[in-house]
Amino acid sequence: MSLDVNGVIFYNAILAYSCGSMRNPPDRYLSTLQQHFPAAPAFTVDVHSGWTSTPEAQNAPPATTNQAAQNIAFQRWFRFKEAFSPSFVTAAIETLGFQPSHVIDPFGGSGTTGITCQLLGIDATTIEVNPFLADVIRAKTTHCKEETLIKAARSFRHGLARTKADLEVLAHLPATFIESEDKQRWIFSRSFGERLSQYLKCIRQIQDPAVQRLFRVALGAILVECSNVYVNGKGRRYRRRWEETQANSERLDFRFHDQFKTVFEDVHRFAARPDARIDVVHGDSRLAMRRLEREADLIVFSPPYPNSFDYTDIYNVELWTLGYLSSSQDNAQLRRSTLHSHVQIQRIAERPLNISPTLQIVLKGLRKKRDELWDANIPEMVLGYFRDLERVLEESFRLITSRGKVLMVVGDSRYAGILVDVPTVLVELGRAIGFNKAQIYEVRKMRASAQQGGSHHLRECIVELAR
Ligand SMILES: C[S@@+](CC[C@H](N)C(=O)[O-])C[C@H]1O[C@@H](n2cnc3c(N)ncnc32)[C@H](O)[C@@H]1O
Repeated sequence: MSLDVNGVIFYNAILAYSCGSMRNPPDRYLSTLQQHFPAAPAFTVDVHSGWTSTPEAQNAPPATTNQAAQNIAFQRWFRFKEAFSPSFVTAAIETLGFQPSHVIDPFGGSGTTGITCQLLGIDATTIEVNPFLADVIRAKTTHCKEETLIKAARSFRHGLARTKADLEVLAHLPATFIESEDKQRWIFSRSFGERLSQYLKCIRQIQDPAVQRLFRVALGAILVECSNVYVNGKGRRYRRRWEETQANSERLDFRFHDQFKTVFEDVHRFAARPDARIDVVHGDSRLAMRRLEREADLIVFSPPYPNSFDYTDIYNVELWTLGYLSSSQDNAQLRRSTLHSHVQIQRIAERPLNISPTLQIVLKGLRKKRDELWDANIPEMVLGYFRDLERVLEESFRLITSRGKVLMVVGDSRYAGILVDVPTVLVELGRAIGFNKAQIYEVRKMRASAQQGGSHHLRECIVELAR
């Protein structure tokens, strides 16, 4: 691929798409979503026997994860390892045996539930606490006209040519972000940072909020891969030989162009998608769910697991660079708004209002082994985690219809040899809240992290609750 004088070519490739007739008839949205791009994992549900993998899926990652769906339309807008695949959401809908009129996902993540429901013409409400991820969901589910995007791409390109680099735009970033002489390590090279400042200025000048958001999300999607770090469950690490492989301004142009093309391709391909109402609430679901009034036939979600993984850390590069965070107080506030799935901040944990015998045994075990735990606050984290999910279940009970169901994808944890049996605790709390039907389906075994005992395998399960 060659770059033009300004280093950016958006619209040549885009125009090629807009001239073709590649749209999908509405009845084929989902099959196209799954077939056009490398296949989603095959995973189905038998209404009688429960959740099953099809023979093809035996060797594939389960659909509760997005591992094999990274190249599927919309899923490919942002690499979100913890997402479930669209086929999981469709299978969840199929288990109802009827077309739901409204679906709720209180832990929206990258928006798999929202976009899948939209493609199926089903209204959905989704809540996400991370402002960048909330924008990823909004970007995927807000209709943007292709012509508007082509015009915006063209004026963005002209804007970039006229805009001067200005590192002041990045002055809010923590000291380690941009290269300077007084530092030993940095996340972005100076050349990359200068170009980034031009991008951010030009994105802010886009008038239409939906288009502005789409550009911001496209930029967010390429930041970590263009940085000197990689991010995993353990946090941020510098790449090997990062000094020799740093991305420069040209790399930013090249990758943004590619990413924008991907986004545009999906917008175009699914331009005539149904106009289902997708409400995206940016907030803490423990509180935000209380404000929801519309009942739902399906409440489907995967909360963070109590594995000490803090999503605020994982998406920190995007949150700071794109301006969603501008102070350490903002960062702490976001951490406080997330579930008690990590021990990154000290907070007073409430205990669940209902009794779970399994939770009592787990807590007793953890407290007894407090000295062996890698963090002494883990028992309180586990306690707070279940109070958080109890709140979500209380609201789910209020909002679920009599023929509807709540489906949760959850994972066990293990600390100092003590198993935190998440599905069983949730079933006990769910029954105490009033759910009459409860079922646990094991879907896979996950490798535990070193902090959780390394060699043990932990279960990932679907918990189903109904009135
Ligand atoms: C496992 S991910 C969900 C992935 C999602 N199912 C998907 O397919 O993309 C869990 C999400 O819960 C969010 N989260 C954590 N605490 C939250 C809270 N209190 N309220 C709402 N969302 C929260 C995290 O930011 C993360 O995006």
